[in-house]
Amino acid sequence: MQSHEIRQRFLDFFAKRGHAILPSASLVPENDPSVLFNTAGMQPLVPYLMGQKHPLGNRLASCQKCVRTGDLDDIGDNRHFSFFEMLGNWSLGDYFKEEAIKWSYEFLTDKEHGLGLDPARLAVTIFKGDENAPYDQESKDIWLSLGIPEHRIYALPAGDNWWSPGDNGPCGPCSEMFYDMTGEFVGKEISHNDFLQLIEQEKFIEIWNDVFMEYEKREGKVIGKLAQKNVDTGAGLERLAAVMQGKHTAYNTDLFKDIFEYIKDNSKDAFDVIPARIIADHVRTATLMISDGVIPGNKDQGYVLRRLIRRALVQANKIQSGYSILMGLQSTFVSRYEKIYNNLKQNPVHQYEIFIKEIEKFQNTLHNGLKEFEKGIDPFILATTYGFPIELTEELAKERGINIDRVDFDKKMSEHQKLSQSASAGMFKGGLANTNEKTVQLHTAHHLLLSALQQVLGPEVKQRGSNITEERLRIDFVFDRKMTDEEKSEVEKIVNEKIQAKLPVVRKEMKREDAEQIGAQMEFGAKYPDTVSVYMIGGEDAHAFSKEFCGGPHVQNTSELGTFKIQKEEASSAGIRRIKAVLQ
Ligand code: GLY
Repeated sequence: MQSHEIRQRFLDFFAKRGHAILPSASLVPENDPSVLFNTAGMQPLVPYLMGQKHPLGNRLASCQKCVRTGDLDDIGDNRHFSFFEMLGNWSLGDYFKEEAIKWSYEFLTDKEHGLGLDPARLAVTIFKGDENAPYDQESKDIWLSLGIPEHRIYALPAGDNWWSPGDNGPCGPCSEMFYDMTGEFVGKEISHNDFLQLIEQEKFIEIWNDVFMEYEKREGKVIGKLAQKNVDTGAGLERLAAVMQGKHTAYNTDLFKDIFEYIKDNSKDAFDVIPARIIADHVRTATLMISDGVIPGNKDQGYVLRRLIRRALVQANKIQSGYSILMGLQSTFVSRYEKIYNNLKQNPVHQYEIFIKEIEKFQNTLHNGLKEFEKGIDPFILATTYGFPIELTEELAKERGINIDRVDFDKKMSEHQKLSQSASAGMFKGGLANTNEKTVQLHTAHHLLLSALQQVLGPEVKQRGSNITEERLRIDFVFDRKMTDEEKSEVEKIVNEKIQAKLPVVRKEMKREDAEQIGAQMEFGAKYPDTVSVYMIGGEDAHAFSKEFCGGPHVQNTSELGTFKIQKEEASSAGIRRIKAVLQ
């Protein structure tokens, strides 16, 4: 049975039993700042589980988009996914254990309207009891009445059979259903300990959880009963698809089959299953996050998204598939999920652009950073000079059995941050007023402008001063006459060509003599230490289009700049001209 049929059968089954079908809520919780993403079907329903009236009644069901990023490093194995779909049905103070368990069983085993699984391959767990709640005899009796043999019912402690979405909110004991993936254990008694082992070995896998939410937690402690008895159930679609299609992992089901073929076809001999899984998982999650309005950035949801895209790109490089396969995969996931989740249909071009822009930006960073990593460059230099994230350095190092001193890195990093703050306060040339994005962009444009002026007016053009605000840059330079209109537009043209060429901006630490040797521009009259920082744009060392002694900060790539325009060219003092320019 294909995944879309499982999804549809589930929703139809519960609609028939009086449940209103809810569309999936956004991956980003609307009114809950305590979590970055919805991690379970019940998350958007917390206020209603706590007692608020739901406008659609007290029986609800949905297929909810979920993201869990707690164990990104485990992705690539059989069971972990950063995105998954959770099927769930809820009773808000309406039915309780009897119907919940009965319907779970019926849906799992009914051939005509459910999944038609073999009851002899099921095993279930119930709550063992502790100071918060008693042994769940009621659930056990219900399972027995449905024909599950006593030796297939296991009582487990709160660690396994008490469910809550976090430290605060509704919670309760649960009863979980497991399926024998091997078929070897039909009719056989399995001891408690053996059962736990078989779960570890993935021979039995959990397919559904019925939570009896009649308790409340605060600050991690169960504080008592809620005003109403609720049911909250959750079944992962990925797991069900694996079971229904007799696969050991959802990566081999219809959810991913063609995705894998596509990756394989594009990676030739370098294909490897773990990187392919990571790529498939991460691109799927990124696609759905973007459709819910997440944009790559440096904090919160945006940071998670950025990490996923970047990790996918690293893996694509590993299997030599080229980064364009990521775009192909994004489109495939869009066409697959747009039938189920409407947001994917809204503004698809914009969504694609957000994805592709982040990839291109990071591809440039990676290209330069990886080369340096292979040379054994210090992680701190990799991070500050090449924008190469420490997490990536750590990952690459781990693969090669190299140890990274994270404490040392963090120490250098915080010193560096202090330094660049003083740099931005005007200690270094450029007199940057602050490091907000606009001034950083103008700072990089300033470097491009100086080189363009030298190209058009001659190498004798030297900088004599500069100043950057959020609105514009200003450069003073040695030149003895007014520039013609043609010269000005030629300069603009060169700068804009360099922006469009998407050139990486690279910082290098080098000996002062070496920097002078390659012709790096320095500030007139300034004194420099023995080791200097040089920024290069478009090529390396002597061949770079722009090379200047400079403390930064700069953008990582000229593609971040926008369109360059000269606003004014005028005399500043005898033999010194002044240009004011902007980025639009
Ligand atoms: N809300 C039940 C579960 O996630 O298992």
